[in-house]
Amino acid sequence: MNHREQGAGSSSIGAAADAVARRLGALEPRVAIVLGSGLGSVADAVQSAIRIPQSAIPGFPKPAAPGHKGELVAGTLEGVPVLVQSGRFHLYEGHAPQLAALPARVFARLGVRTLIVTNAAGGIRLTFRPPTLMLIADHINLMFRNPLEGALEEGEQRFPDMSDPYDRELRALAREVALQQQIGLEEGVYAALLGPSYETPAEIRMLARLGADAVGMSTVPEVIAARARGIRCLGFSSITNVAAGLSAAPLSHEEVLAAGARLAGQLATLIRGVLARL
Ligand code: HPA
Repeated sequence: MNHREQGAGSSSIGAAADAVARRLGALEPRVAIVLGSGLGSVADAVQSAIRIPQSAIPGFPKPAAPGHKGELVAGTLEGVPVLVQSGRFHLYEGHAPQLAALPARVFARLGVRTLIVTNAAGGIRLTFRPPTLMLIADHINLMFRNPLEGALEEGEQRFPDMSDPYDRELRALAREVALQQQIGLEEGVYAALLGPSYETPAEIRMLARLGADAVGMSTVPEVIAARARGIRCLGFSSITNVAAGLSAAPLSHEEVLAAGARLAGQLATLIRGVLARL
């Protein structure tokens, strides 16, 4: 086993949680928010922000994906104590699923009970007109890896139920906020692939047949680990492009980041609206 393949391990969860807790002082975050590619500016709205570089947290590697900052931002949003992760760890960087899920496990250790995950994704459903936002109704794990592989972590179930991965009540709340704020919000199924190459047109046709509405390369490890600890999840995809083969244009990461930046304001409004009603 090389170091990338090691499990999170209770000691690394504890060490990372202790390091973050020392920086938080009296702040006790209730909600954690994970920001996807191009969505980093959502963290700018956090009040009384405490910035914790991920390099200061034991076991957290430096995020390598362009568009990911590499810090935790703690503070309040709409009066709710939050912890925002700007820069996630992807399996395509060579990280084990346990490492991708380490921040979620650390958040749980710190007392977080709600996880809001965001990502950039390609739109598969033909009616999606990017850039647009999609509420994640459910996911399909096509990474063929799982953060719960290996030794059972303290406080986690061996076989967690996954029948309500993205909390029904939180989704209803998100739809209400979108309606009130006049923000277009689609809803659909997110398929997670390993990446980092984008999909082929044949793969997108396959995903459409499997019932996927959007495709990306993240989110699922965190959500599985969170559900194994009883944390409720809410997820948003920023649909930054139509998936491969559905338009003549080739895909580029620059396009994904630019479209994400255009959606970041709306996404921040949605998240703040949900937090205000928790
Ligand atoms: N495919 C996979 N991941 C993505 C895409 C895509 O088309 N767009 C943004 N992230």
